[in-house]
Amino acid sequence: MRQKRVKQATKELLASEGVIVDIEKIKPEHKRVSLEIGSGKGKFITSLAVDHPDELFIAMEININVCYRILEKRNELNLKNLVIILGDATHLIDYFDPHTVDHIYLNFSDPWPKKKHHKRRLTAPSFLNDYTRILKHDGLLQFRTDHIDLFNDSIETIHSYFEILSVETNLAESNYMTEYEVKKRQEGPIFQLIGKVNQHA
Ligand SMILES: C[S@@+](CC[C@H](N)C(=O)[O-])C[C@H]1O[C@@H](n2cnc3c(N)ncnc32)[C@H](O)[C@@H]1O
Repeated sequence: MRQKRVKQATKELLASEGVIVDIEKIKPEHKRVSLEIGSGKGKFITSLAVDHPDELFIAMEININVCYRILEKRNELNLKNLVIILGDATHLIDYFDPHTVDHIYLNFSDPWPKKKHHKRRLTAPSFLNDYTRILKHDGLLQFRTDHIDLFNDSIETIHSYFEILSVETNLAESNYMTEYEVKKRQEGPIFQLIGKVNQHA
């Protein structure tokens, strides 16, 4: 979806506020590290960061205008345990050392319905392969969407890289919901899958 331009959202401003705007290795010192890819405006990841101050949360978002909204929330909530990356998941392994992340969250990722665009999905094999490289050996992937076709296709692909621990086809509301989830709940069920890195994949 096209996002409204935020005039003050520049790379320079974001960088001056501590947002990672160029590719660099992140060296987390926290015991538990969670990464949300395609965070949108950041409601989900900032809620988690508020409730778990001893853990590190990382929001990765490619769109500068929505990334700015995450920064606003980080500042309003005075969060010290949230790292924001303005960046593209295609370069994930340039940001993280192998096996340093506990949990990856994909929430309402773009569905890319046309077959010729499926490789752009954040659940496409090339991305899943990178997730298994940066996740710890017992690391988890949580994928949530309202898009049934994306969900069904993704179960198939995720299955090749992760041991599927749970599948929900009508997920209950929780304290941790994204902006999209709040909106999409009014239209129909929400689907969720949790998988654990498959050592034998
Ligand atoms: C449909 S929106 C959902 C946003 C948010 N997760 C939510 O549920 O409200 C998908 C988001 O993923 C971001 N995105 C898409 N491809 C990405 C990529 N390769 N790397 C990082 N972010 C990406 C988009 O810019 C957009 O903000």
